[in-house]
Amino acid sequence: MTVSSTAFTGKVAFVTGAGSGIGRTTAVAFARAGARVALADLSADGLRETARLVEEAGGPVLALTRDVTSEDEVGSALDDTIQAFGRLDVACNNAGVEQPVTSAADITKDEWDRAVGVSLTGMFLCMKHQIP
Ligand SMILES: NC(=O)c1ccc[n+]([C@@H]2O[C@H](COP(=O)([O-])OP(=O)(O)OC[C@H]3O[C@@H](n4cnc5c(N)ncnc54)[C@H](O)[C@@H]3O)[C@@H](O)[C@H]2O)c1
Repeated sequence: MTVSSTAFTGKVAFVTGAGSGIGRTTAVAFARAGARVALADLSADGLRETARLVEEAGGPVLALTRDVTSEDEVGSALDDTIQAFGRLDVACNNAGVEQPVTSAADITKDEWDRAVGVSLTGMFLCMKHQIP
């Protein structure tokens, strides 16, 4: 599907896990479609490269080194986004961690907590602070 280069003009998009992979590609796609883009990720290096690509695609960008499992960090990321861009229109809550495919009996409690913490609680915390 082709998205028009003006489909998101005037809109603000917020993308987590924006430091690599799907999040990076999504952030650049929003910028190409005219959006201003807030990026959040644990990786400052990853964010730096994504921010460069978003700017190259024409989008004003805000890079936020944040952990989506921390409610304080998620809340401040959304506050900073509103402060910088004045609004929020769309979110891609994509941050996640890959778990090796293995039997449930072989997954440690720490691995389970990490996967649920990032992929599930992280998404909940983002929505909790984005919806208002
Ligand atoms: N790639 C696939 O084929 C595939 C398939 C199904 C689902 N997914 C899901 O899509 C999402 C993105 O996948 P990807 O392949 O781009 O993965 P990726 O590992 O390239 O990117 C994930 C990003 O999330 C960031 N991240 C991890 N924990 C974080 C945290 N606590 N706070 C903030 N950022 C954090 C990482 O630093 C990384 O930049 C993941 O949730 C993944 O589980 C991917």
